[in-house]
Amino acid sequence: MSTLLHISVSPMGDHSISRGIAGEFVTVWTAAHADGVVIERDLAANPVPHLDAEVIMAGYVPAEERPASQAAKHDARMALINEILGADEIVISTPMWNWNLPSVLKAYFDNIIIPGVLDGSGADGLRGKKVTYIVAQGGSYAEGAPRFGWDHQTEYIRLVASALGATDVEVITSEFGLAGVAPGMENFLEHKNASIVAATEAAKARAAA
Ligand SMILES: Cc1cc2nc3c(=O)[nH]c(=O)nc-3n(C[C@H](O)[C@H](O)[C@H](O)COP(=O)(O)O)c2cc1C
Repeated sequence: MSTLLHISVSPMGDHSISRGIAGEFVTVWTAAHADGVVIERDLAANPVPHLDAEVIMAGYVPAEERPASQAAKHDARMALINEILGADEIVISTPMWNWNLPSVLKAYFDNIIIPGVLDGSGADGLRGKKVTYIVAQGGSYAEGAPRFGWDHQTEYIRLVASALGATDVEVITSEFGLAGVAPGMENFLEHKNASIVAATEAAKARAAA
């Protein structure tokens, strides 16, 4: 039996480009894994809390000495860690927001990375797991674009997966999501549609592999 952890970030529901493409990924993955199990973690519907002082200090307090509220917060982080460690494969769909990742995804990463438990120092927590990111951008940050170099998301999210031990990491990006939505972007509608088709095909191929 194989387990896919499907993490969603966009709050845009059925209008979300990243969710739409990830949905195709999950459909193909499910067809390719007859006995597969998909675990849904929707960070828009159920955001994880930002770290506070109490939960940060939990790591420095022996388990039996943690007050109940601190223990509960730490246990919630451990549940997220055990969930991702228990998955064979992970697909994360996310928009680009302000040239980086939405804070709900950053908060998720902050929750699961705990020194000595799951961290970036020689960790093998995600080793052997296939990690796929599906990113929707409103514009384009490709070479030659006016804002080439402004994308501070792609390399960061790739780094998180590889720092945690994953070696099979792919970022699939669709561009120009704001065409047809934000005024002045009309000329990019064709690029947008072609980009969504290409990203969807890439996602489906990856899910089937
Ligand atoms: C708060 C916010 C910030 C955004 N910042 C950027 C940005 O920095 N760069 C960009 O290309 N698009 C930006 N966008 C546009 C989204 O990336 C784009 O609409 C994308 O399709 C969103 O993904 P979704 O459709 O899955 O929600 C932003 C959108 C929002 C709502």
